[in-house]
Amino acid sequence: MTSKPNDRLSLTGKTALITGGASGIGLETAKVITQAGAQVSIGDRNEAALQEAQAQLNDQGISLETMYLDVTKEDSVVEVMRRVATLGSLEILVNCAGTGARMEATELPLERWQEVLNVNLTGTFLCSREAAKSMLQRGKGSIVNVASIMGLIGGGVYPNPAYQASKGGVVNLTRSLALDWASRGIRVNAVAPAFVRTPLTQSLLAEDGMEEKLLARTPLGRLVETHEVADAIHFLASDAAAMITGHTLPVDGGWVAQ
Ligand code: NAI
Repeated sequence: MTSKPNDRLSLTGKTALITGGASGIGLETAKVITQAGAQVSIGDRNEAALQEAQAQLNDQGISLETMYLDVTKEDSVVEVMRRVATLGSLEILVNCAGTGARMEATELPLERWQEVLNVNLTGTFLCSREAAKSMLQRGKGSIVNVASIMGLIGGGVYPNPAYQASKGGVVNLTRSLALDWASRGIRVNAVAPAFVRTPLTQSLLAEDGMEEKLLARTPLGRLVETHEVADAIHFLASDAAAMITGHTLPVDGGWVAQ
């Protein structure tokens, strides 16, 4: 053992792509892993949010690339990987783009079901597949998927069946790809956050009594902070997690331990 703990957490010299990086958890992760030394690109399909993120990061002295990316579109994913390759060999992929559809199954139109599955599960597959092509050539890479506690449990707070199904799929895709690529130098892990205050949960958390209900079910008694998810992603992406693959790490204040 020659390196020091902080060296193993360093991402200096590594090129990273974060999907859904214009907002919430993805944006915070961009800040954290840039500070850890990575050269980061963020991809997102919300162009206004991308511009806002770029301005916010510039103000904070953080420099990174922003790119239009729709993770559900194969040609968009391929194009972004091509652009990232011009910046350096991609070593870290964070699949963070996500969406939900809070409706009972009997009310859920097929198009909404498919949209949620397309973004959360198919998008994770497509980006991982394209990223792995270059990672496998170098025998080196770390993929971190953003699942959810809702991929580990059936829900139970309000109906969101497409989200639960998609995130459950992400958890098992994580195991599957981890096993397929383990002998070729690529690790694949996931984080499973409980509730974080972001644009995705804004309307949910504004509902009467909802926040109290969620806190009552969280052993540590508070919402998750974006940086707490970003720190877990940073750890899994780094050499500090060199012996961890196929794992989903809850960042949930004890929710799934109950
Ligand atoms: P957010 O809404 O702030 O960020 C999600 C980003 O994904 C947005 O910028 C959005 O434009 C982008 N996106 C959506 N569809 C896309 C597509 N097809 N292609 C590219 N980008 C796309 O939400 P948040 O909360 O930061 O969510 C990030 C991830 O964390 C999601 O996968 C979400 O499911 C997951 N998560 C969030 C939790 C929370 O409580 N906020 C809890 C557990 C998991």
